[in-house]
Amino acid sequence: MPSAEHVILRELLAQETTWVSGSTLAAKLGISRVAVWQHMEKLRAAGFTFEAQRSRGYRVAARPDTLYAPLIETLLKVRPRPFSLLVLDEVDSTNDEAARQLSAGRPAPFAVLARRQTRGRGRFGRTWHSDSRTSLYASFAFRPRVEPERMQTFTLWMGLNVCELLSNFAGVTPGIKWPNDILFEGRKAGGMLTEARIDADQIRDLVFGLGLNVNHPAGGWPADLVRGAVALADVTGVALDLNRLAAALIGRVLLAYQSFVDGEHLKSFAELWHRYDLLRGKPVTLLEGGRRHHGVVSGLDDEGALLLRDELGKVQRFRAGEVTLEKSA
Ligand code: BTN
Repeated sequence: MPSAEHVILRELLAQETTWVSGSTLAAKLGISRVAVWQHMEKLRAAGFTFEAQRSRGYRVAARPDTLYAPLIETLLKVRPRPFSLLVLDEVDSTNDEAARQLSAGRPAPFAVLARRQTRGRGRFGRTWHSDSRTSLYASFAFRPRVEPERMQTFTLWMGLNVCELLSNFAGVTPGIKWPNDILFEGRKAGGMLTEARIDADQIRDLVFGLGLNVNHPAGGWPADLVRGAVALADVTGVALDLNRLAAALIGRVLLAYQSFVDGEHLKSFAELWHRYDLLRGKPVTLLEGGRRHHGVVSGLDDEGALLLRDELGKVQRFRAGEVTLEKSA
């Protein structure tokens, strides 16, 4: 059942430049005009501003700059069934919350978004800086029931889709640093963390987590991130509509998941990888299990492992590791 706020927003956003009368909204919802006014107050408290005229009704003047579930629901273009969206003000980690909800039996797919995380996590147990309220902390939960080997390139595929979305949505040119970083000109704007629970050789629960620095204030980074992190708004020069981006991201991630599970992704993976890969042909150092490996990246294999050619011409494959571009690159 859509909430009253969702219905009101649907009406107002469908007619963004024209007025919608209180009585039209009241009739749509089957409630009184006073009750409509009370819901409008709730929307105001969430960050909307409206122009209101007694003779004409309401018109949206400004939208919230933090995540707001009824607005995201209104803006969603594709919506598979079942799909549910959870937008939390604060949570330890959206990945952890998604895993808890999966364990509790919540029907998948669903998405957990939060305005702030108190224990946002990255790879290798690192902290993901998560208190901007104007960035995206999102986790998507699935129950694929396929063998783990089938999911080897999943994070890379999702990263390609995030890059495509950002380039279409914001007109920017991101790149992927294998295996899970989304960069702009050498600085990190996003990171992905995929976690799975495996049962009897099948993936039972799968959580794809994405942190995206969207409108993070340029002066607000902790000291260790000042040089390495960037927000999308720094790249575009204007603030992005966070709720519109969240809705577009949800649509894209759900479609990307489906095409991966159906094997359809194979048709475009190589072309997209070629477009967004930042490492091919570059000299790098790869840190894996405490060992450093130097070489030039020659590509990916079918399982998503990184191929490194050393100075003797020998190619080694790496399933995991932390890559640093060498200075001359
Ligand atoms: C990395 O770059 O190491 C991955 C970072 C992933 C961060 C996201 S934010 C949403 C989700 N919840 C988490 O705790 N982590 C992921």
